[in-house]
Amino acid sequence: MIILSIESSCDETAAAVTENGRRVLSSEISSQIDIHRVYGGVVPELASRSHVQAVQKLADLALRDAGVRREDVDAVAVTCAPGLIGAVLVGVSFAKSAALALDRPLIPVHHIRGHVAANYIAWPELEPPFACLVASGGSSLILDVRGYTDYRVLGSTRDDAAGECFDKAARVLGIGYPGGAQIDALAKTGDPEKYPLPRAKVDGSPYDMSFSGLKTAVVNLAHRARQTGEALDLPSLAASLCRAVSDTLVSRAAEAAEELGYGKLAIAGGVAANSVIRAELDREAAKRGIRTFPAPLAYCGDNAAMIGCQGYYEYLAGVRADSSLNAYATMSPDSRFLRF
Ligand code: KG4
Repeated sequence: MIILSIESSCDETAAAVTENGRRVLSSEISSQIDIHRVYGGVVPELASRSHVQAVQKLADLALRDAGVRREDVDAVAVTCAPGLIGAVLVGVSFAKSAALALDRPLIPVHHIRGHVAANYIAWPELEPPFACLVASGGSSLILDVRGYTDYRVLGSTRDDAAGECFDKAARVLGIGYPGGAQIDALAKTGDPEKYPLPRAKVDGSPYDMSFSGLKTAVVNLAHRARQTGEALDLPSLAASLCRAVSDTLVSRAAEAAEELGYGKLAIAGGVAANSVIRAELDREAAKRGIRTFPAPLAYCGDNAAMIGCQGYYEYLAGVRADSSLNAYATMSPDSRFLRF
């Protein structure tokens, strides 16, 4: 089954063609980083406008690169939640039009489920059930993936996502935008013990997380250094931050995976590209006899191939949308709450 998929939930416009939920025939991504860099963060209206300009061309490019004609497309899949509402609406509106024009089914896909499905591209042997840590710019979640379309949320952040913490820290330290990848690179030559940073726990919810205190701690360090003229050791601060985020994510993910007892732990989302987190997760999982399935680096960040892969499994489960499909800024990936 050939699916044309569209992703526009934040600052990447993406279109892809995938086959049977596992094979990527093409994956096109147009990043808006250069548009938002000057503001130090994503400007929602600019993101939406840029999606409007890019989406049609990218879809055509995805079909051309896949060697697939429009009439060979079996279904159209699209991210409909969660994300910047204006941005998601662009993809949803385009996908509705494409499905109507091609006279093909329209499949709504939850963005986080898409991130999880990025693992199916790299790991043909990976099948539910498994535990999954999803960490991105907007979400930090520990999931029990009971089936391809059957999810249970075990833990989530109570405030900021891990990626938000990296991006804000990078901004205040003048490291660049978006900051996660730069902090990761800088951390390689730093001392992770140099700056003692907080690791928050949520009383009574062992798998829930909080990153706002960590973010504030880095912001305060940066402000104090500016006031006193102290030179910060940026590589060591980056290494200390990576270690703090990793400690929070990895301990919970490994414990959850052990408790679930599937012996499988996947990791996905933009922050899953972080080298400290990947290495620590491998180490912690190995100690517990759990196999890890890291999403391939090329599919950690937002892309449409992952939406096409999850779209295939949603299709098999009978999920369809009609022309009344709406976009949603927030929605839990837990299937019990999915309403399209
Ligand atoms: O998954 P993604 O592309 O977008 C969302 O769905 O949110 O994730 C983007 C986030 C950004 O916060 C970015 O700084 C972070 O992923 N990121 C990283 C790394 N590469 C990207 N964070 C830490 N280490 C990295 N290597």
